[in-house]
Parts: sequence; structure tokens; C-alpha cells
Amino acid sequence: MQRRSTRSFAARPLSIAQVALMVWAAQGQTTGERRSCPSAHALYPLTLTVVAGNVDGLAAGAYRYDAERDVLTLIADGDHRDRVAGTTLADHAWLRQAAALLLLSGDLEAAAQHFADQPPVGRRGARYVWLEAGHAGQNIYLQAAEAGLGAVLVAGFDDDRLLGLTPAIVPSGQHPLALLGVGHPADLQS
Ligand SMILES: Cc1cc2nc3c(=O)[nH]c(=O)nc-3n(C[C@H](O)[C@H](O)[C@H](O)COP(=O)(O)O)c2cc1C
Repeated sequence: MQRRSTRSFAARPLSIAQVALMVWAAQGQTTGERRSCPSAHALYPLTLTVVAGNVDGLAAGAYRYDAERDVLTLIADGDHRDRVAGTTLADHAWLRQAAALLLLSGDLEAAAQHFADQPPVGRRGARYVWLEAGHAGQNIYLQAAEAGLGAVLVAGFDDDRLLGLTPAIVPSGQHPLALLGVGHPADLQS
């Protein structure tokens, strides 16, 4: 009932524990090496990148989430929120105010090959990756609602500009699928 898209964020930082909760909800391991998200053939083709800018206890930077170890690894230091949010089609200025951006990406080619025997031949694998990104996005939304945080899924971005950012934010060989802004909603600011 409380899940809504938040497009106005407070200046208050997220805690590292809140970021940990969000990334775990998106892709974290649960039991038997399975994850919070359903995944065709339990292949887990998604990569989660955290673009942190306003997180207590986490230096500004882009981090890759390692689901098996439940850790974030720095891939590019500095605040990259402006550059990433600047690739949105409507240039969502408010997205730059989100404490962290969570980017879901995946290897569509590898998935197409893995599911090559399933019709429509050559196309089903990519569908599975997109579907899984939807599950991960909804998990982030629901976890945010549960934790009293705001989240918004932004899929309207320029693939080429996002892929062309230097230093790279999207992993090599992967396709950007969805971007989510998370933070404290502005109306809860004290
Ligand atoms: C596939 C998809 C793409 C979306 N892309 C954007 C976007 O680019 N920018 C944006 O502000 N919201 C985007 N949204 C959020 C929708 O605008 C939002 O979910 C819708 O207005 C319903 O509002 P609610 O989420 O608060 O219930 C997207 C949602 C989905 C599912």
C-alpha cells in the first residue's frame, strides 16, 4: 500500500546499513545460494552497481555488489550521481538529489545463448533478463517502503550515453536495464 515513486529527496544521508538493506533486497543471497529475486535457471544474470553520493560510512563512489559475499567493491571513486542522472531522457534534475543510484545491468548476449534452445530462438534469454530486472526493481521499491525510504525506478535513459561514461559505470559487455534513485523522501526531512 505504501510503495510509491519518490521524486523529491531530502538532503539527509542514507546510512550504510540502509544501503546494505536495499542492495540485499535487490540481489542478496537467501538460502541455498538462491537469491531474493527469482531467476530463470537460477542463472542470476544481473549486476548491481551502486552510485553512492550521500551515504554515511560509505565514501562517494561507484561500487559493484557481490551477492555471494554481500559486499560492495569500489570501481570508481568520487560522486558520479550527476553524470549518471544526466543520461536520463528527461534529464531528471531531482534524480541527482537521491543519496544513491542503483543501476541494474545484465549480459543479454550470454542469456540469449544460454536459452538458445527456447523459442523464440535467440530472443527468450533477453526477455528473462528484463523480467528479472523488474523483480529486483520491485524488491528495492518494497524494501524502501518498509524502511520509510523513497525510491523511484527510471528506465528512460540514453543507453549509449550511459554506456559511454568514463570512468565506466556499466560493466563491460553488459546492457543497462534499470536505474533507481533511493534516499530519504523530502517530506520526512526534519
Ligand atoms: C518500466 C518503467 C519505467 C519507468 N521509467 C521512469 C522514468 O524514466 N522516469 C520516472 O520519473 N519514472 C519512471 N517510472 C516510474 C513510473 O512513472 C511510476 O511507477 C508511475 O507513475 C506510477 O507511480 P507510482 O510508482 O508512484 O505508483 C518507470 C516505471 C516503470 C515500471
